[in-house]
Parts: sequence; C-alpha cells; structure tokens
Amino acid sequence: MVLHKVARRSEIQENKGKEVKIENARIAVFYTKGKYYAIDALCRHQDGSLAPGRVDGEIVECPLHSWHYNVRTGELLDYVKGVKLTTYEVIIKGNDLYLDV
Ligand code: FES
Repeated sequence: MVLHKVARRSEIQENKGKEVKIENARIAVFYTKGKYYAIDALCRHQDGSLAPGRVDGEIVECPLHSWHYNVRTGELLDYVKGVKLTTYEVIIKGNDLYLDV
C-alpha cells in the first residue's frame, strides 16, 4: 500500500464528494458528518460516477438512476444483494487528504 495525496481538506465540503484518479482507479472521496470516506467511484449499475451524488449521512445516491451506497462500507443498499464497492482508508495530514491504495 502507498499513500497518495488526493486533495486539500478545503476542497471537499460537508455532504459533498470529489472524484480522484490513482493510476487507473477512479475513487470518490466524501466528507460527511465530520468524517472522510473513500470508495470506488463507479456505480455498478451503469458506471455513473458517485462523486457528484447527493450525500445524506453515510448514504450517497448515484446521480444517474438513484442507486444508493453506504460510503463507509461500500455496500449497495438497494436493488441487488451482495454488491460492495472497494473502500479505502482516508488519512488526514494537516490540511491534506491521502488515500492508502
Ligand atoms: S449508473 Fe448509478 S444508478 Fe445507474
């Protein structure tokens, strides 16, 4: 695992996300209820990016067709059982955010 700097803390507002790219991986970083979370950015339905989705607590809604994921666990919460996006640890160092990928 390697630490990758992905954003300044100020770049991700409360209940918002930002998509970052590390090598070929597209990852969505969210800030909600005072914590940062990171999951694979692409929705398993039709590859919509989850980063611009509406965030409510630990839940993000895909902006394309409204599938819902838990940003802490990566779990899909509706339609298909057993779908789980990869989650990544977000590390805060000063004003910067790093992902352990
Ligand atoms: S692409 Fe996410 S719900 Fe369709």
